Amino acid sequence: MIRRKLVAGNWKMNGLKRDLGEVRAIAAAAAAHPQVDVAVCVPFTLIADAVAAAPELTIGAQDCHAVDSGPHTGCVSPAMLVDVGARTVIVGHSERRADQFETSQDAWAKAAGAHRHGLDVILCCGETEAEHDAGRAERVVQAQIEKSVPDDASPEWFTLAYEPRWAIGTGRTPSVEDIAAMHAIARAKLKQLVGEERARGIRILYGGSVTGKNAAAIFAAPDVDGGLIGGASLTSEKFVPIIEAAVEVSR
Ligand code: PGA
Repeated sequence: MIRRKLVAGNWKMNGLKRDLGEVRAIAAAAAAHPQVDVAVCVPFTLIADAVAAAPELTIGAQDCHAVDSGPHTGCVSPAMLVDVGARTVIVGHSERRADQFETSQDAWAKAAGAHRHGLDVILCCGETEAEHDAGRAERVVQAQIEKSVPDDASPEWFTLAYEPRWAIGTGRTPSVEDIAAMHAIARAKLKQLVGEERARGIRILYGGSVTGKNAAAIFAAPDVDGGLIGGASLTSEKFVPIIEAAVEVSR
């Protein structure tokens, strides 16, 4: 099965209405490169405006609640995301695990809830620096995948993102060989959980300090099916070269 590259931006807690021009410029680049898939996950407050500004671009959220509605002050449900035009959602991001104490079980419930409403899901995993230095990265990532990937995960709606926490926003990345090795481990784990055929089709993105400079080498690695991009997704100037890198390695 051929896995199309996916380049997904994660704007985190950045972006105001005045930044919608960047969404439009990213949408234009995405339209010019139909060989790859592009998504931008903006703050909740910008979803409806981003969808209106760029109806053809996949606009997503960065989190959701697991259930449809109820007494959860400040939370946003998958149904609400669909209502404002989001098509995808990131769950289990390491910043939410660290700042909001979310667990892999939470990520599982959010992924399942989002899928029930027809959203695509990008589920994140990745070890901390201490786990990495202690040689535990492999086991940590395998355990996260085991606890968070829904049984019915399939390529049509589910994407995994491997993001070593120590590489996020730091300008440090693992070697391409190390990225490829962890992606192979992740795919083997997916195989155990959802079977050979679905595991072969599920995209595994790399995230953590991807730039226009390193993207092509990373995206060319086996089992790397694109990237989840934070800082470098905030402007079209930085994000478009990453989309172009995905196009280059898709030839
Ligand atoms: P970064 O973030 O590209 O700024 O390192 C990636 C992410 O957290 O998804």
